[in-house]
Amino acid sequence: MENKAQSGHRLVLVPCPYQGHINPMLQLGTFLHSKGFSISIVHTHFNSPNPSNHPEFTFFPIPDGLTADEISSGNAVAIMFTINANCKASFKQCLTDRVTEQEPQNKITCIIYDEFMYFSESVANDLNIPRILLRTQSATNFIARNTLIRLHSKGCTPFPDSMSLNLVPELHPLRFKDLPISIFDTLENVLKLMANGHDVRTSSAIIWNTLDCLEQSSLAQVQQQCQVPIFSIGPLHKIATAASSSSLLEEDTSCIAWLDKQSHNSVIYVSLGSLAFISEKELFEMAWGLINSRQPFLWVIRPGSVCDSDGIELLPQGFSEAVGERGCIVTWAPQMEVLAHGAVGGFWSHCGWNSTLESMSEGVPMLCRPCSSDQKVNARCVSQVWKIGLQLENELERGEVERAVKKLMVDDDGKGMRVRAKDLKEKIEVSMKGGSSYHCLNKLVELIRSF
Ligand code: UDX
Repeated sequence: MENKAQSGHRLVLVPCPYQGHINPMLQLGTFLHSKGFSISIVHTHFNSPNPSNHPEFTFFPIPDGLTADEISSGNAVAIMFTINANCKASFKQCLTDRVTEQEPQNKITCIIYDEFMYFSESVANDLNIPRILLRTQSATNFIARNTLIRLHSKGCTPFPDSMSLNLVPELHPLRFKDLPISIFDTLENVLKLMANGHDVRTSSAIIWNTLDCLEQSSLAQVQQQCQVPIFSIGPLHKIATAASSSSLLEEDTSCIAWLDKQSHNSVIYVSLGSLAFISEKELFEMAWGLINSRQPFLWVIRPGSVCDSDGIELLPQGFSEAVGERGCIVTWAPQMEVLAHGAVGGFWSHCGWNSTLESMSEGVPMLCRPCSSDQKVNARCVSQVWKIGLQLENELERGEVERAVKKLMVDDDGKGMRVRAKDLKEKIEVSMKGGSSYHCLNKLVELIRSF
């Protein structure tokens, strides 16, 4: 990509080292670079992005102090605590070195950091550099998190099972079971991590990877609660048109040739993102449900996503013979390209916020199977607010999977969802072309240039 950075404004971006956070931060970097800013990415050794995919940025790794045991535990909450405890000094050193070696015309104008990399804020304060927070999850999830923190502080958690289907007061249509509780750690620790990312008093602004047309009322509520401007500039993967892949796993692009051979809107794409996992029994029920639906499918079975196994070797006996050419299985896909492909007519998703935005931007209706935290909020919004998908709520069973896939893809009673998904795609396009996201992007660029 042509290096257009000429403004003399250097921005330091600090992504949280998980796929669902790295992607939007690097996409934001690509957009800001196209507006003339120089971009430096300061990142942990853990899950470090590949600099060769982004020659337009400069990369600065900092030691994160994570042990092999912590990494292999897979406890994302504990990992984030360790990173925040360990990275403050190394980040400060990295910036101080940069500041002292800098030409005055290339000083650091601003630090943009992921809300879960909150150590960045105190470093920015110490060095007197303006800072902006990036939130990569939905605004509705933020409100739900606040409610959860409040209910916990009043001693209302854990919620009894009998309440799980009750609507949460003031959060309709969210039920207690949809609140963003994580499976990775205790509620106490998860809420502490969330609360640490909530303090934005000294930030200049919040960038939110969402859109007014999706979350107008949630965004208005959040804006009322905080003193700093909020820029809802999503969907970032569409704003950054020239963004290269920032996948941590290698993408298997052979699935695009397979998609090329399928009919329009016929394929259900199945992927549970970068962290969600399922049991062996669920894998079996998914497999037979997909086969019995008779729809072609492209299925991402990520290593480790089936309870610590490689997954593919667990597929039921007779599966490959039954599938034949009708199924394609890969370990990691070029997801944005897949969702934009004309052959894809539905997305079975864990409803990570990036996957949800990527699906909506292409007008693809969703079959929602959330696993943890914000995915539950997103799944509920997809099925009950935007009404562009349905949620698989019960224990996975092949008959139910088959019915749901058919409803999503072909049956008459799913037509409304499919039409609304296409309408929403158009609204998102309007937001980007002269609408709310476009205006927020312009205001954001103006603000950064004013520092
Ligand atoms: C999780 C949360 O669910 C998410 O909401 C939160 O903000 C970050 O942590 P994750 O499981 O990674 O995220 O899901 P998601 O937010 O959907 O991000 C996954 C990213 O990986 C997407 O951008 C998707 O395009 C990409 N992906 C996924 C691929 O490129 N290939 C694949 O095969 C699967």
